[in-house]
Amino acid sequence: MTQPAAADPGALIDHAAMLRLLSEALTSAWSSFERPRPREPSLPGDLAAAFDARLPDAPSAPDAALADAARVLDSSHCPSRPLFLAYVGSTGLEAGVVGAALTAAYDVNMAVAPGAVEALEHQALRWIGELVGYRPADGAFTSGGMISNLTALAAAREQALPGSRRRGCQGACGVYCSDEAHHSVARAVEISGMGSDALRRIAIDHCRRMRVDELRAAIARDRASGITPVAVVATAGTTLTGAVDPLGEIAAACAEHGVWLHVDGAYGLPAAAAPSTRELFAGLDRADSVTVDAHKWLGIQKSCSVVMLRDRGPLSNAFHHDERYMVHREGVRNAVDATLEYSRPARSIPIWLALRIYGADAFRAWIEQTLDLARTFAEALRGDSAFELLHAPMLSAVCFRHIPAGGGDPGAHNTRLAQAIADDGRVYLAGASVDGMPCLRVCFVNFRTRREDLGTLLAVVREIAAGE
Ligand SMILES: Cc1ncc(COP(=O)(O)O)c(C=O)c1O
Repeated sequence: MTQPAAADPGALIDHAAMLRLLSEALTSAWSSFERPRPREPSLPGDLAAAFDARLPDAPSAPDAALADAARVLDSSHCPSRPLFLAYVGSTGLEAGVVGAALTAAYDVNMAVAPGAVEALEHQALRWIGELVGYRPADGAFTSGGMISNLTALAAAREQALPGSRRRGCQGACGVYCSDEAHHSVARAVEISGMGSDALRRIAIDHCRRMRVDELRAAIARDRASGITPVAVVATAGTTLTGAVDPLGEIAAACAEHGVWLHVDGAYGLPAAAAPSTRELFAGLDRADSVTVDAHKWLGIQKSCSVVMLRDRGPLSNAFHHDERYMVHREGVRNAVDATLEYSRPARSIPIWLALRIYGADAFRAWIEQTLDLARTFAEALRGDSAFELLHAPMLSAVCFRHIPAGGGDPGAHNTRLAQAIADDGRVYLAGASVDGMPCLRVCFVNFRTRREDLGTLLAVVREIAAGE
C-alpha cells in the first residue's frame, strides 16, 4: 500500500487488490448460498470483543477489515440461503449485487438532474410493468413497500381532496383495505395526515380476500355521512397467507364510486408474471397505482421497490415543489417532484441489469418454481397427521401448525416451537398467527430452494417438535 496522503483516502487503497478481496468474499458468499448450512455460525469471540474497540485514528489493513465485515455478515441471518423461509425473504440474485456496486460507485443522485440514468429508470419501470401486466404512465423507485404505499396514498389523498397537502384534510377521510392488509397501509394513512381512524378494515372471505360487498357497503356508509372516500388498497398477495384480493371486482366498485384504487403487490405481484397464477391478478390494469418490491420476489437486494401510476399527473400534484435552490427548466419536471425522498440512489440499475441479463423468462420460471414449492409443501402437510395446513396457498406463503403428539395446547406448542426452530438455526421460519391461532409460516421466493429442501424442512420441524 502507498503511504497515506492525509486528505486523500483514495491513496490508501490499492484498487486491484481491493477488488480481488471483494471478488473472493462474494465468491465465497455465493457458493455458500447454494446449499443449506448444517448450522448458522455464531459470531466468533474475537470479533465480538473487537466491537468494543475505540474509533481507529490510523489506517489498517483492508484485507483484515474486509474479512471481519464478511465474517460478521456470514454470522447473520441471510435471506439468500435456501432454507431461509421466514417473512418474505429474498434471493441474493448476483446481477443485483453487481448492479448495486456499480450504482454506488457512480453515486448518481436521483433527486437532482441525474442525466442519462433517468431514461434507464423509465425503461426499468416499463419493464417491471410489462412483467406483471401494468402500464405505468408515471412512477418512482423507492426504498420499500412502506414508502411506495405511502407515496401512492399521498397522491390519492391529493386527488380526492385537492389542496389537502397545504391545508390538511379538513374533514374525515376513508381508506379501505382488507383485514389482512400489511400494516404499512395503516402507517401510510397516519403519516399522510388522514389519521388511522380513517382506515376501514374490510372483512375477508373464506379465501382470506377482501369481501367486496362489505367494501361497497363501507364506501356507501361513508359517503352518506359526509366522509370522503380517498382510496381502496387491495392487496395482491397478503403477507400472512398470500391471498390476492379480487382486483377486478374491487376495480369495478372503485369506478362506480369514483375512488382511487391502489394495489399493494409488494410481496405478491411478481406472481402475475407466472402462468399458473396470472389470472388471479385480472383487473390489475384498472388500478390507479401499484406497489411491487423488487427486493422480495424479484430477487434484488434491499432496498428497491417500485410505485407505478396509471396517469402522469397525481405524483407531481402531491410532491412538486418550487424552491430557489431547485429551479425548473421550462416545462420539465425535476426527478424529486415525483416522490417523497430527496437524495436517493439510482435504485433501478440492479433490477434493470437483472432483467436484461437473465431475461423475463428466467423470472417467470423461477417464480413458477417457488409457487410449485408452496403447493408441494401444502400437499405434504395435508398428507401428514402430525401437521395441520391452515389455508390453501394462493401464492407462495404457507401457514401451518404442528399437532402436539401427546395432546396439549397447540397454540402454546407452536409458539415454543417457532422459537426453538429459530434457536436451532438449521431452517429459518417465522412464528405467525392465523385467526388467533399461533402457527408456523414459510414463504417461498428463493430460486435456490429445491424440492429436496422441503423434506429437510419437515424433518427438522418434526425433530425439534419431538423435543418440545
Ligand atoms: C404486502 C406488503 N406490503 C408492504 C410491505 C412493506 O414492504 P417493505 O418491507 O419493503 O417496506 C410488505 C412487507 O413484507 C408486504 O408484505
